[in-house]
Order: sequence, then structure tokens, then C-alpha cells
Amino acid sequence: MAARTFFVGGNWKMNGDKKSLGDLITTLNTAALHDGTEVVCGAPTIYLDFARSNLDPRIGVAAQNCYKVAKGAFTGEISPAMIKDCGIDWVILGHSERRHVFGESDELIGQKVAHALENDLGVIACIGEKLEEREAGTTEEVVYAQTQVIADNVKDWSKVVLAYEPVWAIGTGKTATPEQAQEVHEKLRAWIRANISDDVADSVRILYGGSVTGANCKELAGQPDVDGFLVGGASLKPEFVDIINARA
Ligand code: PGA
Repeated sequence: MAARTFFVGGNWKMNGDKKSLGDLITTLNTAALHDGTEVVCGAPTIYLDFARSNLDPRIGVAAQNCYKVAKGAFTGEISPAMIKDCGIDWVILGHSERRHVFGESDELIGQKVAHALENDLGVIACIGEKLEEREAGTTEEVVYAQTQVIADNVKDWSKVVLAYEPVWAIGTGKTATPEQAQEVHEKLRAWIRANISDDVADSVRILYGGSVTGANCKELAGQPDVDGFLVGGASLKPEFVDIINARA
């Protein structure tokens, strides 16, 4: 079975300024980060260039969104080509805030995934059920359907990382238990095995996201199908270093 490199993404969302992000960048640049972990920070669009110019090259940078075409009359949007032009290699797509605050559909997310990959960006593709869906027992159905739309738009899985982020756990302080996370990750990997291929099931990183902290990361990281994290709130704090080093 392919060894999966542990992957920790920070999602700064719409937070920070040059002063506070500069301080965070200094903390990350000077910290002892576990060599075996791939680290990527998702910066607000206007600070992408700032983040890329100031972060140590061993730390990747991600845009938090992008549009589905290369250029044109799309006020306020940015394209994968522009992201690449700024030296940035990743984009987060399908985040629950894009889905549920900004109303992005599965179809649009799929089109964005396809276009980002065509432009050689790595994609952190997010999926996850809402509380009412979990309570109705439809977690798997929701997560498989979201993954299917992503899969329909992926040719090369080596550039894709999946992030399972239960919506009820995002920004709520209500982390999924290690058992809850492992259960969904394991089922998702089995779904990938059945519907995509053994190779992709063995190699694709499945991150957990939702109220990950320095205090809970080690136990989550100990689960066999948890291959890393996508971290919101705690990625803005020095404890992000502890999360990066969760498997160290
Ligand atoms: P959180 O956010 O860590 O603040 O819960 C996670 C995310 O939205 O990716």
C-alpha cells in the first residue's frame, strides 16, 4: 500500500492583516516542522502574494477559491492561471462556507475542480454533511454524492486531496470524535476503492477538518484513515505548529 504523506492545511479564511499574518509567518518559518508533513496555508486572495513572498518555500500556499474559467468579465473572481502566476500551487474548493454561505452548487464546484486541475493547481476538495443530515442518518449518502461530483471532474488524482469536514464541527468547537472521523474516512476510502480504483483509494489523502486543535490533533492523527487536517481557527495561532507535528 502506498504510504500517504501527512498533509496539514491551514485555512485562514477572511482573517488577519499584514501585521498578524506576518507574525504568524515568522512563527511558521522559524518553527521546527516535521519533515514528513506537507504543509499548505490558505490565505485570503489579497494576501496570497504576501504569503507566498514571505513564507518559507517548504510551506505551500493555497487560494481559498477560484473561478471555473481562465479570464473574462467576472468581476471579483480570480482564475487558476492568476493563482499560478503568483507562484501558488494549491486551491481550496467546495469549502462548506462556499457551499452554504455563498450557495455554490455541486455542479459549479465540479467545474472549478476540473478547471483548476487543467491549470496544474493542486486541489483541496472539501466535502461534509450538515448536522441535520447526520441526524437523519444520511452522512454517507451526502458525502458520497459530493465526492462523486468531484470524481467526475478529476483525471489525475495525484493533484487532489480530499477534506472531510462535517459542517457541524466547523468553527463550533465541537470536533468529531476520532471514532466518528475514522468511520467516515474508512467508508469514503472504501467508496473510492469501489467507484474509482484501488490505486486512488490507497494513495489519496483524506484530511479531517472541523475544530482541530493542538489538544485533539494527536488522537485524530492516530486514526489509520486520517491523513492530515484542514484547520481553520487554530491555523491562525502558534498551536498550528503542534498540529503540523501531530504525527511527528
Ligand atoms: P475550524 O475550521 O478549524 O475553525 O473548525 C475548519 C475549516 O473550515 O476548514
